[in-house]
Amino acid sequence: MYPRTCLQHSNSSAKLSEMNNDYFTVIGGKKLTGTIAVHGAKNFALKALAASLLFTGKVTIKNAPRIEDIFRTIELLTHLGVTATVRAHTVTLDPSHITSTKLDPNIAKKIRASVVLAGPLLARMGTVHLPHPGGCVIGKRPIDLFLEGWRCMNANVRESKSGYTIHTKKLRGCDLTFKQVSVTATESLMMTATLAHGKTILRNAAREPEIPALAEMLNTSGARITGAGTSTIEIMGTGGKPLTHGTCTVIPDRIETGTFLILGALLGSPITITNCDPHHLDVPIQLLKEAGVPITCGKNWIKVTRPKVIRGVDMQTREYPGFPTDLQAPFVVLMTQAEGESLIFETIFEGRLSYTEELRRMGAHIHISDPHRAIIHGPTALRARDIESPDIRAGLAFLIATLVAHGTSKLRTVYQIDRGYENIEERLNKLGAHIKRIS
Ligand code: UD1
Repeated sequence: MYPRTCLQHSNSSAKLSEMNNDYFTVIGGKKLTGTIAVHGAKNFALKALAASLLFTGKVTIKNAPRIEDIFRTIELLTHLGVTATVRAHTVTLDPSHITSTKLDPNIAKKIRASVVLAGPLLARMGTVHLPHPGGCVIGKRPIDLFLEGWRCMNANVRESKSGYTIHTKKLRGCDLTFKQVSVTATESLMMTATLAHGKTILRNAAREPEIPALAEMLNTSGARITGAGTSTIEIMGTGGKPLTHGTCTVIPDRIETGTFLILGALLGSPITITNCDPHHLDVPIQLLKEAGVPITCGKNWIKVTRPKVIRGVDMQTREYPGFPTDLQAPFVVLMTQAEGESLIFETIFEGRLSYTEELRRMGAHIHISDPHRAIIHGPTALRARDIESPDIRAGLAFLIATLVAHGTSKLRTVYQIDRGYENIEERLNKLGAHIKRIS
């Protein structure tokens, strides 16, 4: 259980519940208008929390989203001996006394991203026990790249029934080429290398905006990382010396931004998205424009309107700066409302199209030609239904589908949406949506 005594909440609607059974009733077909602000990026805040293990003094993370995955990660950290205080969107951590090197398996199995704690914990303590990462609905997600990286840095990896024990007497920098681009493996090894002896070079590294943001957080506290945001990252390790104090502000969530963009393309009359970085979404914006969606961008805002006709366009998910796989499901919902045929090619994850079965039951014409490809014929009216969120991103795509469908839908397993989106119903209702949470 989360040690609630160490938390102070200013937002009474924040959800700290374990796997709640909440569901939404959604009355679809309403136009949406107004302004919606983007919250801090889940996929950066998680890594900033993990990075706190590299420090011996206070670490402050501002603009952290109040979402389940963040609360679960804080819970994992407190089991390791870190004390945490959450006030509004600021998390303050004291990692001075680490009392355990074992990640709690019960919490770790709920969020796959818990693996990112292992690298900094290994760097700080020289040993870590990592439970087997649980499977998830978007397919098998191996950790071989992480293990190869730690081995290359002079750590010994032992696998047992309960997971992996990774141990090192002295982490040594190394020259490592990832055989596949991986976001969390890049971030984990960048964090591990920060305290290693000597220089580490990570080649074929991921380039997602969360990676330079993490490097900046570490560099302002004395780390020496160059090249983050490119495919070659160099890290000059501190030689075993932990960092002292740290602070960072979480960058805007580009996946939340892209989700609101797609929602605006479907129902916006118009909607303006603020507190965002439009450049993090160059490819999705380009594709939406090709689909005929009117979009104007400022430095940190985007205005989007539903066009008379949405045109079908083909889309492939790719590593950044390509189209993000986390926006694939919302984009598929958009294409069900587009004229003509569109081919969706999911190149990153196998099994990330299984949710389309439910969209078919809502009336969409989607043909799955293989585990990576879907062909959509549109537009088709969507029917309201009683559906369940299978995972965080498909869950939000279903919410969008129920907002488009005429009639009243029931969306179950809202916990999946709460994992990544803060107070989503309140924020969308302010734009004119009709979403009611039933606890
Ligand atoms: C991160 C994001 C997730 C996003 C994904 C792809 C976080 C917390 N999550 O996940 O939201 O969908 O990037 O943009 O930041 N792979 C291996 N071996 C490994 C690791 C990964 O084969 O050791 C494969 C995966 O199975 C997948 C591909 O690499 O096919 C890319 O996945 P990866 O970038 O690692 O995704 P995550 O970092 O887990």
